[in-house]
Amino acid sequence: MEDLESLKAEVLAAIAAAQDLKAWDDARVAALGKKGRVTELMKGMGALPVEQKIEMGKKLNVLKSEIEAALENRRNELAEKELNEKLARETIDVTLPVRDEVQGRIHPVSKIYEEVVAIFGEMGFDVAEGPDIEDQFHNFNALNMPANHPARQMQDTFYIPNRNSDDFDDSYVVRTHTSPVQIRTMESRRPPIRIIAPGRTYRSDYDATHTPMFHQVEGLVIDKNITMAHLKGCLYDFVKAFFELDEIPVRYRPSYFPFTEPSAEMDIGCLKTKTELKIGAGTDWLEILGCGMVHPNVLRAGGIDPDEYQGFAFGVGIDRLAMLKYGIPDLRTFFESDVRWLKHYGFTPLDFSSMTGGLSNNGGSAR
Ligand code: PHE
Repeated sequence: MEDLESLKAEVLAAIAAAQDLKAWDDARVAALGKKGRVTELMKGMGALPVEQKIEMGKKLNVLKSEIEAALENRRNELAEKELNEKLARETIDVTLPVRDEVQGRIHPVSKIYEEVVAIFGEMGFDVAEGPDIEDQFHNFNALNMPANHPARQMQDTFYIPNRNSDDFDDSYVVRTHTSPVQIRTMESRRPPIRIIAPGRTYRSDYDATHTPMFHQVEGLVIDKNITMAHLKGCLYDFVKAFFELDEIPVRYRPSYFPFTEPSAEMDIGCLKTKTELKIGAGTDWLEILGCGMVHPNVLRAGGIDPDEYQGFAFGVGIDRLAMLKYGIPDLRTFFESDVRWLKHYGFTPLDFSSMTGGLSNNGGSAR
């Protein structure tokens, strides 16, 4: 008669050692199969005397159920193991490897553009556009500057000949400011109008603060009952948001533009020292933009009745804003396409300007 304890130990060890379902089945057959060790013992019981038979029967039944329980356990373990291995084999890595450094930089002009659009977008302004090559009607005449108007000399204009006409008045210009977009907007939609028009502008000028191509953003609001107070409130909110300050001193100086009446220039308070320019405090003033109430002649040229509607307009130099906000001393470097310059003054493409998420992302930017 086999020693049941060692039999049990051997069978359980074989079950525990089974590493796959095949080995598990071999262990099962070896113990409980037709010719298995436990089965053989059960068969052999018939020859035993009655009392031994009863006792042996009990023991073998207990042993059998213990083995069955161990088998069941091991099978579950193996099934789980097999499933896990299958899942591990079939995993797809959907993540991208982390890049050491984001390549490329956003140019400060593009950054300021985004910031200005974010600020005015929040105030409910749309972005409008117009062509770089303009006719004199949109660039001058409709803006209350008829031919020979002295104000045309204020801007050093690049003219482009008109192949179909020898008349100088028919020649085109590369727009000297974004103000022609005021006219194009009035021509294409009815008030209320609330737009900004950022874009390229051109004047024959070249020094540390002037380049022949530069950028402006125009603003135009037209509705019934618009007053200078709206202009002031709107621009005050803009400079505060733009320079990311809670308070900023501002003042309006009387000025002259043919297309606005009255006209003003807006200054912001700052502190100028030999080495530094601090915006938002101090006793100095910095001119920041031109603005005014839209001249009735301009409304008329745009097909809007000045007795029914009023508006205000402003024009800001985007490059100048970039120089001030990000401390870039020479405008000419903006357009030299020097990668080292861009790496230094540019912004990482992953930082978006928004009023809620942060305008300049100074902390997280490349600078
Ligand atoms: N177009 C003017 C300039 O280029 C700026 C401006 C725009 C002034 C709108 C008043 C109103 O200097």
